[in-house]
Amino acid sequence: MSTVSLESFRAEIDRLRADATAALDAAGSDEAFEKARIEFLGAKSGRLKAIQKLLGGLAAADRPAGGKHFNEAKEAITAALAAAQARLGGAAAEVDAVDVTLPGDPVRLGHLHPITQTIRRVQEIMSRLGFESVDGPEVEDQWHNFEALAIGAEHPARDPLDNFYLAVARGADPLLLRSQTSTVQIRVMEQRKPPLRIVSLGRVYRPDTADATHYPMFHQVEGLLVEPGTTMAHLKSVLRLFASSFLGGDVHVRFRPSFFPFTEPSVEVDMEWGGRWIEMGGAGMVDPAVLEAVGYDPGTVSGFAFGLGVERIAARRYGVADIRDFYKNDVRFLEQF
Ligand code: FA5
Repeated sequence: MSTVSLESFRAEIDRLRADATAALDAAGSDEAFEKARIEFLGAKSGRLKAIQKLLGGLAAADRPAGGKHFNEAKEAITAALAAAQARLGGAAAEVDAVDVTLPGDPVRLGHLHPITQTIRRVQEIMSRLGFESVDGPEVEDQWHNFEALAIGAEHPARDPLDNFYLAVARGADPLLLRSQTSTVQIRVMEQRKPPLRIVSLGRVYRPDTADATHYPMFHQVEGLLVEPGTTMAHLKSVLRLFASSFLGGDVHVRFRPSFFPFTEPSVEVDMEWGGRWIEMGGAGMVDPAVLEAVGYDPGTVSGFAFGLGVERIAARRYGVADIRDFYKNDVRFLEQF
């Protein structure tokens, strides 16, 4: 059913056409031009748009004639618009244009965090020594974080006050955020047979109070080599080559007797550089009990392992006095690397 007659539709259009061409012809400024453009040709609530909607109210037989009338009016108004635009010197046409001659906004380039840079550098140096990079999970079970590393149920290292146990228990085996990357040694040895040369870099977590050399979340680099005939001399050579490449110059490495349940003998690794000795991590020969636990024959292969603190070696290399600075997210500090 039609709700609009063809006559009244035509009359509406004619009125609009007259109003629009008059307004555009009279527009003497950019503002007046823009006001008329919006009033008559505005995409959302312009008068032309409103009339277009009335088309649907015409009887079906009248629609072709109504549509033709509408299009003629629209063309006339568009022509008046173009004429007004030309008369106003094209200034109105440029209102929305982009000035491609203006200088652009400079894009500030970021860079990798110094700890990420350190991780990549360590991986690169170790790969030259034949060590393949592998990853392990940060949420671990008791077997990989403790038991397979000969850290028994009564060992103080398992104390809830020294670990981040998770509330989600898996049966009687509460999971925890790993406290060392030595977990990866076990995961790799469980899956592969010797000879092995792997390095693993990742986050570890301990409820340590933050100070200049400690942080509750930090990174370790774990190295593991298992081959027939491996000795402490190989361990020291690899660490010395690594330290010299990483820090530059001839870095001296010192072993101090120590204890780790999964290495025998065990040592603390200190590095001397720039006249100072700094503890970088722990190391030792993989304990035969650990080799047996993963199904290796300690009679035919031996291996060494080491675990160094990434923040500590990064601090040494970059001359940073306090490792907490790495995690303050102060751009003025981070920009220097
Ligand atoms: C270990 O974690 C042993 N898994 C290392 C190891 C691997 C021994 C393989 C034998 C064979 P330790 O707890 O000492 O050892 O930690 C190793 C290094 O991590 C430390 O020397 C130190 O450089 C770094 N480290 C330890 N705690 C923190 C901390 N809270 N913040 C920053 N670095 C830390």
